[in-house]
Amino acid sequence: MKFNIVLVPGDGIGPEIVWGAVEVLTAVGRKFGHTFDFETVLAGGCAIDRFGVPLPDETLQKCLSSDSVLLGAVGGPKWDTLPGHLRPERALLGIRKELGLFANLRPARLQKVLASASPLRADIADKGVDLLIVRELTGGMYFGPRGRGQGEMGETAFDTEVYSRGEIERIGRVGFETAMKRNKKLCSVDKANVLESSRLWRETMHELAKEYPEVAYSDMLVDNAAMQLIQNPSQFDVIVTSNLFGDILSDEASQLTGSIGLLASASLGEGTRGMYEPIHGSAPDIAGQGIANPIATILSAAMMLNLSFGLTEEAAAVDAAVAAVLASGARTRDIAAGGAYISGAEMTRRIIQAL
Ligand code: IPM
Ligand code: MG
Repeated sequence: MKFNIVLVPGDGIGPEIVWGAVEVLTAVGRKFGHTFDFETVLAGGCAIDRFGVPLPDETLQKCLSSDSVLLGAVGGPKWDTLPGHLRPERALLGIRKELGLFANLRPARLQKVLASASPLRADIADKGVDLLIVRELTGGMYFGPRGRGQGEMGETAFDTEVYSRGEIERIGRVGFETAMKRNKKLCSVDKANVLESSRLWRETMHELAKEYPEVAYSDMLVDNAAMQLIQNPSQFDVIVTSNLFGDILSDEASQLTGSIGLLASASLGEGTRGMYEPIHGSAPDIAGQGIANPIATILSAAMMLNLSFGLTEEAAAVDAAVAAVLASGARTRDIAAGGAYISGAEMTRRIIQAL
């Protein structure tokens, strides 16, 4: 089969890690007889430098006509003082919104061989961490009304959390369907003791739960969820939550696995086209040194093979190659726990060899 993949390397370590994933995809193509055509576009800080805008129209159009998008990371200190609508992050939000990618899947699994890289106490890590956060991605505070004004105590600013029943139902369904394919446990995370939007969220989830009697459903307040993730992470299978809470909890969950450099994500909408990206950022502090861990991006490419292209065997082969290389003791700096480490390029080479 033949697929057209748009690459958005972005800023910082973005280009290094995307390149690693491209090499792995090319190797998969060779092994299984597929053709992946790649086209690279600019978005984020590099697009600001070149065109004065974070998301040039041409970039968006190419993403819209691709079979899927693979993104590295955007942003960096150089662009931190730009006004909100011109920041590199706008590119990411724009692509998510314009492609209708409302469901963000972020799996977090602690591999036994990396237990020492996890900050979890051994008895907690022993029980395992294998959860998936389903984060709503095109609504909530990220996209609600915002602005600035004057108040009694000086300048004021506001952002608004807005959710409609339709948006909640749509992401809730992804949560339940995902749970059905895993261990049939779904925890919906909200702040229904305070926020009206969370109360609608919870009501809607309870309605949906009736359609999925096989799924063990529960609600949890977000502050408690933040605590439970550290105290007893093995209780979770699938977590479904809003855009903002999902952003925060997925970074927290990533740490349980040893490194944010290992966590992949898929952003999906109604069709098969998705955007795939590591959940970590552009890490400008280590950019260009060759030490960035490409695994999160490589695993994101595997999710693309599976979820957008239906190439399950190929995706499983990539996952297995990554697991084998980690089991062999190979470590990039972020997961070396102070010990010996190899470069990102060498990690990629070993994964391809294991493939
Ligand atoms: C993420 C990132 C983005 C987000 C930023 C870069 C806009 O933190 O994908 O988790 O907040 O969604
Ligand atoms: Mg984030």
